[in-house]
Amino acid sequence: MTIILTIETTCDETAAALVTDELKVLADVVASQDKLHERYGGVVPEVASRVHLEQILPVIDSVFSQSGIKAEEIDAIAVANMPGLAGSLLVGLSAAKSLAVALEKPLIAINHLQAHIYACKISSHEDPFPCLGLIISGGHTSIYHCVNSIEFVLLGGTIDDAVGEAFDKVAAMLNLPYPGGPSIQKIAVKGNPHAYNFPRSLLNEPDRISFSFSGLKTAVRYKLVGPGKVNDPAKTAAQLPPNEIADIAASFQEAAVDILVGKTLQVMKKSEIKTLCIGGGAAANKRFREKISEAMQKNKYKLFIAPPNLCTDNAIMGAIAVERYKKGLFESLELDAFPGVIR
Ligand code: KG4
Ligand code: ZN
Repeated sequence: MTIILTIETTCDETAAALVTDELKVLADVVASQDKLHERYGGVVPEVASRVHLEQILPVIDSVFSQSGIKAEEIDAIAVANMPGLAGSLLVGLSAAKSLAVALEKPLIAINHLQAHIYACKISSHEDPFPCLGLIISGGHTSIYHCVNSIEFVLLGGTIDDAVGEAFDKVAAMLNLPYPGGPSIQKIAVKGNPHAYNFPRSLLNEPDRISFSFSGLKTAVRYKLVGPGKVNDPAKTAAQLPPNEIADIAASFQEAAVDILVGKTLQVMKKSEIKTLCIGGGAAANKRFREKISEAMQKNKYKLFIAPPNLCTDNAIMGAIAVERYKKGLFESLELDAFPGVIR
């Protein structure tokens, strides 16, 4: 049995896991920083990297104590080194390199976006490749042709905000806590998703593989303060009754989900590939899961979507490192962090 220690610090979760070559999870720890970033309504990169520094060693220690496995017993150390926040990536990378040297074990690089898609394979125990891969998170909203687990070709993505970012910003306008996705989902249950007809951008351009969420975000802002006004929407929202906030949240969520489902369907209709894998934090959204499952079923396309706990950032999805381990794709200590997406 091969055991790999996986480390994830791309954004604001400090996570580590011990996984096997059979994709068994021996230990899994995620230390979230949500509470710290809540007061700013989004992740503050400088805060994130400092907190990673404090949390990384206790988190790694915990996976060993949780599993009873000794550090000397592992076969490799894998770390997400792209894409992500530069300072955050560097904390995980430094920890992984230090352990690789101290334990004399090979070092493996993880592409965080590929790992989000690989979460589908871990949870289903079925090989979904080749497939189309939809990644919807706080930093990304993109569709890839996933040739295999580690060879991705970018087909298109958002031209402005990522969908998770739109959820976070709209939540801030409505005085709902960070992260915005879960807060909006919770309050939307009590609202009417058809109360406001917010825009579904770019669905009128079926040949274009692009997403856009800034128009939707602006529409929510205008709903609160009126067009062209510089007033703080959160101040207006504070005066509104709870049922009105719920209606705005539900209508926003419905529009965001319609954009995601509508555009994905347009891409799938034109593609020869009829299998879709979805990963990333926003894929945890219940309304999205309902609507995408319904659309895929109706069109007889095959859908893989990770369970919600594997959609948001975690180190279990770092089990993608198994694929590189089997091919002997190891890195030297020169391995760098790459904040941007490599196409
Ligand atoms: O994948 P992730 O944990 O981190 C990134 O790589 O960005 O995604 C975090 C994003 C946040 O923007 C959060 O608001 C969003 O995913 N998110 C959700 C839900 N849960 C998390 N968005 C909509 N509905 C949810 N239930
Ligand atoms: Zn992520």
